Order: sequence, then C-alpha cells, then structure tokens
Amino acid sequence: MRVAKRIENLPPYLFVEITKKIAEKKAKGEDVVSFAIGDPDIPTPSHIIDRLCQAAQDPANHRYPESAGLPELRQAIAGWYEKRFGVTLDPETEVVPVIGAKEGIAHIPLCFIDPGDVALVPDPGYPVYSVGTMLAGGEPYYLPLKAENDFLPDLNNIPEDILKKSKLLWLNYPNMPTGAVADEEFFSKVVEFARKHDVAVCHDSPYTEVAFDGYQPISFMQVEGARDVGIEFHTLSKTYNMTGWRIGMAVGNATMINALKTVKSNMDSGIPQAIQYAAIEALNGPQDCVQEHNDIYQRRRDLVIEMLNSIGIEAKPPKATLYVWAKVPEGYTSAEFATDLLEQVGVVVTPGTGYGKNGEGYVRISLTIPDAGLVKGLSRLAGWRDIKNRFRAKQT
Ligand SMILES: Cc1ncc(COP(=O)(O)O)c(C=O)c1O
Repeated sequence: MRVAKRIENLPPYLFVEITKKIAEKKAKGEDVVSFAIGDPDIPTPSHIIDRLCQAAQDPANHRYPESAGLPELRQAIAGWYEKRFGVTLDPETEVVPVIGAKEGIAHIPLCFIDPGDVALVPDPGYPVYSVGTMLAGGEPYYLPLKAENDFLPDLNNIPEDILKKSKLLWLNYPNMPTGAVADEEFFSKVVEFARKHDVAVCHDSPYTEVAFDGYQPISFMQVEGARDVGIEFHTLSKTYNMTGWRIGMAVGNATMINALKTVKSNMDSGIPQAIQYAAIEALNGPQDCVQEHNDIYQRRRDLVIEMLNSIGIEAKPPKATLYVWAKVPEGYTSAEFATDLLEQVGVVVTPGTGYGKNGEGYVRISLTIPDAGLVKGLSRLAGWRDIKNRFRAKQT
C-alpha cells in the first residue's frame, strides 16, 4: 500500500522522535530527565475539574456537540478577551472554539492556501504552521527570527515574487521557542504589511498568560486594524494547564472565522460539551491560579538560567512563555549538544533545529518539569560541566 505524496514528504513530528529516544533509554534501564516537552506538569485547577465532572453526568452532554461550540462558550471567550485585553468581539461571527490551537492552526491553511500559494512562516517556529501549509498543497517561505532583530521577522526583506504568492502570514508572540515578545509598534507594522500585500495574518498566542516579573503580553487584536486583516489563536492548554482536554479558540476577522467554521463543520463534530462547560468555568471563574502558576514557572526559570550561566551557557531570562532559549557552547551544533547531554548525563533538551534551520546554535529548555525532576536535572547539568572540565584538563 502506498500513502499519498503529501504524507510521504512530511518530516516526522518533532516530539514523536524525542519521545521515542526517551523510551529507548528507559527501556535500557537508564534514568532520563526531560526538559523537552512544553506540557504543564501542574494539574488543572480543581474548580475546573469539578465543573467537568458535573457536566459529564448530564445526558445532554453525551450527544454530538455543534462544531461552532456552545453559544455560552463563545460568549465566555468574548468576555475573557474584553476583561483581559479590552477587546470587544462578536461571539456570533468573530469567535470559534477549536480542539486545541493545534487543530485550528493545522486547518486554517485549507481555508486560504491553494496549491502553489505561499505562507510566510517564522523560523524557528511551531512546526504545524509549515506542515498545515504543505498539507493544503502550499509552500512555506521561512522568515528568519534572529537575535539581533529581537527574534522579530524582517517583513521588508521578502522577495517581490514571494509576496505576490503569499496568502498567509504566521506570527507567534510571546514566541515559542525563543521566548521573545512583541509590542504594539511591531503589530501595527504587521497590519500595514498585511493591508499592502493582501495577506491574511494568523497570530498564534498560547503564551499571553504565562508571563513573569509583572510583564503583561498584549493581544494582536488590541492593535488598530488587526481585525480587518487577521485572527488570533489562543488556548486553555497553557493558561489553565488543560493540554489534555484539547480546547482553544480562534478570534478576529469574521471572514476568516467563517471560513474556518466551514472547514471544521465538515471535518469535526466539535469539542465534547462537558469540556466546553469546563472551559466556560475556566474563563469566567477565579483567575488567581494563573499568577500562582506563573510564580512557580518564574522560580524555575531563574534556577535554570542561574545553572546554565554557571556552566558557561548563555541564556537570558524570558519575559514570557514556558521556555528558555539557550545558546549551545562553542564547538557544538544544536543536535550535537542535545545528544551529548543525553548520552553523558541523561538530560533531554530540544535541539533548536527542530524548529527550523535558524534554530541552529540553540536548544530549548522547557520549565514544565516538576520540582524534583528540575533539581535532579540541574544537578546533572552541573555534572556535565564537571565531565567537560575533567576532559579539558586531560587534554592540556
Ligand atoms: C506556539 C504553539 N502554538 C500552539 C500550540 C498548541 O497548543 P494546543 O494545546 O492548544 O493545541 C503550542 C503547544 O505547545 C505551541 O507551543
């Protein structure tokens, strides 16, 4: 049996490979500490789970949901955007729940990309932006995110022939994997760019609520004109530790939302209703948990940065996201350094090249590791430094 070319040509999903490597080590009886996957270790807050359990008991929630989501959920999403960002959305036309942001991100190219069209995609970036484009028959054109530009893409440096074929522009701030943030000035330039070149903007923003030192990330939707040119994806995954429940949202431009609703209604039958009620509780309920989680991540971030700097690895504390984007030591590629850490001290980090070729020279370290694992992982990193020092001493 032969699978379709569109599948043959796809790279394996990054974390499938990493999970396989970890499983192989574990099968050999080796103990591995993983800083690889950005999946919150802290449980979903109990008031949200209680609502889920209650809703699961109601037979009305055992039936097919509507793919456009419960009106109460769309209302809760609009209410949350109003409270959090001062952005007013029409729950009927400017909001659609998605089965996790990943589902919406994978499907939106089907709405805008025809074979031969181009999507402008940040590099390094979340792999689904380019894979969704390829599955729709289009081609990604990569926009390098460089440290010297604060990991923002240079929109003035895209060739004219590419601009003519470009239908979508992907952006993601606070940024995964670099931890960079964007301000209103940058987003205003994006609106101007999108208008000039007739490109639809998809801003992926799962990390607006994971922020440190009092910093409050903004929404693309806060910027004048954003709604005319684009949509934003957000998710409950990281804000309320709900990665396993699979629920998120797309909001903004009504034409884009309507197109996504059309694709979704033909492909999925919505999010289980009990989960929709849990999401309503999360969005409307007490928000203290968000700061409590951020305090935990901030403490971990500081411990990781301190350890990395102490072993000669350059990394700046991110203002937001669950990740530290660390420079690999001289003489290593990203992959070599990640392999060395795994082989020498049983620590897993994600090579930056897993997010694109401009991720070379970096590794991503996730802060979603329980404290006991974190302490063990950090002491292993110190062990790696000692091994290297002994090796150097032997050579001289
Ligand atoms: C940048 C980015 N976008 C989207 C997602 C997917 O989020 P969800 O769990 O809502 O599918 C992730 C998950 O790690 C992410 O890092």
